[in-house]
This record gives sequence, structure tokens and C-alpha cells, in this order.
Amino acid sequence: MSVQSIARRLTAPDIRARKGGEPIVSLTAYHAHTARLIDPHVDFMLVGDSLGMVMHGMETTVPVTVEMMILQGQAVMRGSSRALVVVDLPFGSYEGSPQQAFATASRVLKETGAGAVKLEGGRRMAETVRFLADRGVPVMGHVGLTPQAINTLGSFKALGRDEASAALILDDARAIAEAGAFSIVLEAISEPLARQITQEVAPPTIGIGGSSACDGQILVLEDMLGLSDRVPRFVKKFADIGPAIGAAVESYASEVRARAFPGPEHVYAPKKG
Ligand code: KIV
Repeated sequence: MSVQSIARRLTAPDIRARKGGEPIVSLTAYHAHTARLIDPHVDFMLVGDSLGMVMHGMETTVPVTVEMMILQGQAVMRGSSRALVVVDLPFGSYEGSPQQAFATASRVLKETGAGAVKLEGGRRMAETVRFLADRGVPVMGHVGLTPQAINTLGSFKALGRDEASAALILDDARAIAEAGAFSIVLEAISEPLARQITQEVAPPTIGIGGSSACDGQILVLEDMLGLSDRVPRFVKKFADIGPAIGAAVESYASEVRARAFPGPEHVYAPKKG
């Protein structure tokens, strides 16, 4: 019998228990290799449907499919062992009814092994959040700017900057908190509103364009690494690896053209004897 102790992965209840405590650290991950790199540093990683835009060059997240989310969710699970993995339910796969949402969420959890799903929407999704939570599916909510609604919103601009719209977003957050969401992403809303929601709702809030007062923060990994061309105001670039990749590929190209690569140390000599 192995005496090796296997570190337990963080769970949705672990994240839920962090309300008001040490800030929750999270990033998106779509691949096994990036999941491996960030796993020691984050509490949860989100397989976000932003992968449609970041990995596939789509204009919006609307065309992303359940199959795409499952494929990348499996990759992220293979690359990580410690952090909770949360997988986004893509547009059109859950809004029809609580039953549709349960069918999609249970498939995602079974086929990826992830520990939770995320879905977008406030009051209109509260019944669904309750239906899933009552049936063993941990749900992370997402209110404020909900990118899957781009065709009704018209643009990716910040919301909740006037009293009427702030009141609606507060009601959205309250509704899914009461329905049993274990955590709520607050995206691109006014700072005082994010602060107020964090004070008022029981589950931890995760800000992305929210407030430093949120219970945690999330960013798209490629955005904070400097790999994305255009980023929203709420992104801080913690590195600028885009130019480093360009320089490395330029050196590779010139060495290949000069027949300087591969060198003697990169090729195989015949075996002696
Ligand atoms: O899809 C995504 O990456 C997200 C984050 C921006 C929260 O939903």
C-alpha cells in the first residue's frame, strides 16, 4: 500500500468558507501546461468560455460549445492537482430550463472531473442555480457584465455606474446568493457597487473589474501575461511575454535560415561499435 500522501484538491465548500478571509486568488486556464504553472499559486482556476476569444480568435463567447469546454476542462484537470477547477457553461447550454442546465452541468462534471460550474445571469437564473445546487452541482454565479449577453448588451462596457442599473445588479447578486451559489463573479461594475455587494451577500465575491474589497480576484491569464492585443481597463499586465515570444521566434527563424540550428548538441551521433 502506498504511504504517499496525496494533497487534496480545494473544493467549492473550501472557497465558500473563505468569505471575508484571506483573498481568493484565481485565473483562467485552458491548457494542461498553463494549469500546471498556475496550480501552486491559485485557489481555483476557471476554464472560462473566454477561450473562444483568447484561443480561437472568436469575436465573442457566443459560438463556444459544450464540447470545447469539456475538451479544455479535461486538459486543465490533467495539468492541475491542487486548485479547484471551475468550468463555464457556454451560451445556449443552460438558459432554456433548469433541467437543460442540470443535463449540461452533470455532463461537464462527469466528463471533466471538475469540481464546479459557472453560469452567467442574476435574477433570471436564480431558479436554475437553486435547482443545480439542490442536486449536487456547485454553482459559481456571474453578474454585472455578462459577455454571453453581448447581443442584447450591445458592447462590453462597464455597468452599474448609475443608481438604477446598480440597483438591478445588486438584486441580481442577492438573487443568486440566496439561490445557493457558492461564489459570485462580479465583472466590470462600479467599484462602490462591488464593495456593497461584497458586504451584503453571504458567498464570496470574485472581482474582475470590481473592487479590491471583493473576497477574491480573477483575471484572464493571457491578458495579465501581456499576450493579448487589446485588454479592458481592469487588466493589469503583470508580465509582457508577447514581445519575448516574438524575439525568440525571430532568433529561431534566423538560425534555421543560417543553418546554425540545430547545432551538434541537438543532433544524434551514430552509436559506436
Ligand atoms: O470566461 C471567462 O474567462 C470569465 C472570466 C472573465 C470571469 O468568465
